Amino acid sequence: METIIRKYDSEAPDASVMEEAGKILRAGGLVAFPTETVYGLGGDALNPQASEKIYAAKGRPSDNPLIVHIADLQALQVLTSRIPDRARVLADRFWPGPLTMIMPKSDVVPRQTTGGLDTVAIRMPSDPTAYELIRSSGVYIAAPSANTSGRPSPTLARHVAEDLSGRIDMIIDGGRCDIGLESTIVDLTGDIPVILRPGYITKEMLEEAVGRVDIDRAVTASRPDPNLRPKAPGMKYRHYAPRGSLTVVQGSREAVAAKINSLVKEKQARGKRCAVIASEENMRLYQAERIMDIGSRRHEESIAANLYDILREMDEEDIDFIYSESFTGEGLGFAIMNRLLKAAGHQIIQL
Ligand code: TXA
Ligand code: MG
Repeated sequence: METIIRKYDSEAPDASVMEEAGKILRAGGLVAFPTETVYGLGGDALNPQASEKIYAAKGRPSDNPLIVHIADLQALQVLTSRIPDRARVLADRFWPGPLTMIMPKSDVVPRQTTGGLDTVAIRMPSDPTAYELIRSSGVYIAAPSANTSGRPSPTLARHVAEDLSGRIDMIIDGGRCDIGLESTIVDLTGDIPVILRPGYITKEMLEEAVGRVDIDRAVTASRPDPNLRPKAPGMKYRHYAPRGSLTVVQGSREAVAAKINSLVKEKQARGKRCAVIASEENMRLYQAERIMDIGSRRHEESIAANLYDILREMDEEDIDFIYSESFTGEGLGFAIMNRLLKAAGHQIIQL
């Protein structure tokens, strides 16, 4: 199949792009589109064949449920069997935006979309292109991140094309995604909301709106524990990982730089290609063939926005060993560390 790639600028909208995409979605085809978090691979959420096609295109295990993207609150009446009170409060506060809520599903949502679960993940994205696609197509759009399963999520249309060209009908190129990390997922089916995946909307922000919020223990565990099954099935898979070996080094600024420099020297002596992922503030402390500026510690948003692009670049440059600084673990830093440690398969050196 030939994949159509069309640019779309939400500030100078070309309606023909949306018409073409809408036709494909209504016919059960697949369209990748930008959101404020990462690019999504969209299909009609109520069409089981479309969901099956999504799994096939990504090479994703079919027990890993998809997120349904909506453009108005009316959709909750259709997609859920019960709207938890806290969901209304959180929707009011954070939608449209990078928050996904798990709720009990209604009968119209096929099990193919929810990976066999009785619950459904729902998000109303704020990105104007995503919004326009959902609205104008008239389809609730099931969309996982538009990457091949296991690779870093796409933050540029180019990343989507690298992974999925020839496997999907269309890519809408709307430029770079603002946030660069996937949405926060919160499960609202129990008494206390539980964060299943950290993201831009933090625990503190959620608690301010609805009181106590817990974090799934599988997310806070410092290493994967076979006894802790993540409640978001997708969080159990090896994820976001570059092909080279990635190690995160934690400690004081000077100790981290000294350790990374000595590891790089040792690997280079054996003819290996090495790269360092460093914050803008610390770049000059390193000696290596490639030193990647991931952004400023004063603006963790910049670090989130660059992370996946840098991990993909490591593959393009055939890097064997990657050493990364670590980040605060507070606020957005918690989501950054969650993805970085997963990408590293939890290889971490604590100094
Ligand atoms: O920012 C995002 O959320 C992006 C954009 C495209 O919206 N989407 C995204 O989708 O990251 P995906 O499929 O890559 O991740 C969805 C996660 C998976 O870990 C999945 O297991 C979990 O959400 N999930 C989906 N439905 C669920 C459910 N009913 N119960 C628990 N976890 C669920
Ligand atoms: Mg994903």
